[in-house]
Amino acid sequence: MDRLKGKIALITGAANGIGQAIARIFAREGAIVIIADVDDKQGELLADELGDNATFSHLDVANEQEWQEAMSMLEDKYHQLDVLVNNAGIIGDINNDSSQDPENCPLEVWQKIHAINMDSVFLGCKHAIALMKKNSCGSIINMSSRSGIVGVPHAAAYASSKASIRNHTKSVALYCAQQEYNIRCNSLHPAAIMTDIWNQMLGDNEQREETLQRIASSIPLGHFGVPEDVALAALYLASDDSAYITGAELVIDGGILAGSAASVQKN
Ligand SMILES: NC(=O)c1ccc[n+]([C@@H]2O[C@H](COP(=O)([O-])OP(=O)(O)OC[C@H]3O[C@@H](n4cnc5c(N)ncnc54)[C@H](O)[C@@H]3O)[C@@H](O)[C@H]2O)c1
Repeated sequence: MDRLKGKIALITGAANGIGQAIARIFAREGAIVIIADVDDKQGELLADELGDNATFSHLDVANEQEWQEAMSMLEDKYHQLDVLVNNAGIIGDINNDSSQDPENCPLEVWQKIHAINMDSVFLGCKHAIALMKKNSCGSIINMSSRSGIVGVPHAAAYASSKASIRNHTKSVALYCAQQEYNIRCNSLHPAAIMTDIWNQMLGDNEQREETLQRIASSIPLGHFGVPEDVALAALYLASDDSAYITGAELVIDGGILAGSAASVQKN
């Protein structure tokens, strides 16, 4: 308890899934949590449930003006920002044949996925640094993915956006160290965490259970992860326990990447 006592933490995409689990654990550990999302209904509900230490703020992470407004609100109300979790992200419609493969992905699909997954992280880091440096302290946590480390033929736009997050995290970490801002920046790389992203991919058809079992059996630990698995890693990177860690990447994938059993599915 109290590992984040007195810290102000903004979490994007916090109305659902992994972001919601991060918001719950951060609030439990004493942080004041700003739930930032485009899903106003779920965001407000969560803020009400978490009580005095949580507030909802509408933020479309691909929109720079909305980032500026969010930072102005933080500066006026709290005079600081200690933790930013750039968590919001979309996978796109990968069930639609060839919608994201390198040969057929339409430019607008590619650009939309990069805007929400990647431009958002650039914007979040840019505007958070300006506020965090005023108090000479901060931790930025960027949500990449296993897909930011390996290629994914049927989700190439998603994978590219997540790889960019992985690299930008290291540039931000080094830049902040060079400037002696005392701002750390690290990336998280989850895989197979059961949330709406997986519900979208699995669909609601009769093969769902069979597909779930097949994927689970290919994971070294033998099962899907839950959002709390990622939230506890975020807690570590947000807290002073990780004071000497910057530019690092932490994989939370049940061991998938440890064996790196890449397979190419032939048509
Ligand atoms: N679930 C997994 O297995 C997994 C694996 C690797 C990486 N991730 C990453 O974790 C992050 C969270 O994913 P999740 O699984 O919780 O998905 P989710 O769909 O449950 O939650 C995503 C949240 O982001 C919000 N969002 C979408 N577009 C937004 C925008 N423009 N501005 C602000 N908020 C927006 C949604 O409203 C939602 O609340 C994503 O970046 C995802 O790529 C998830």
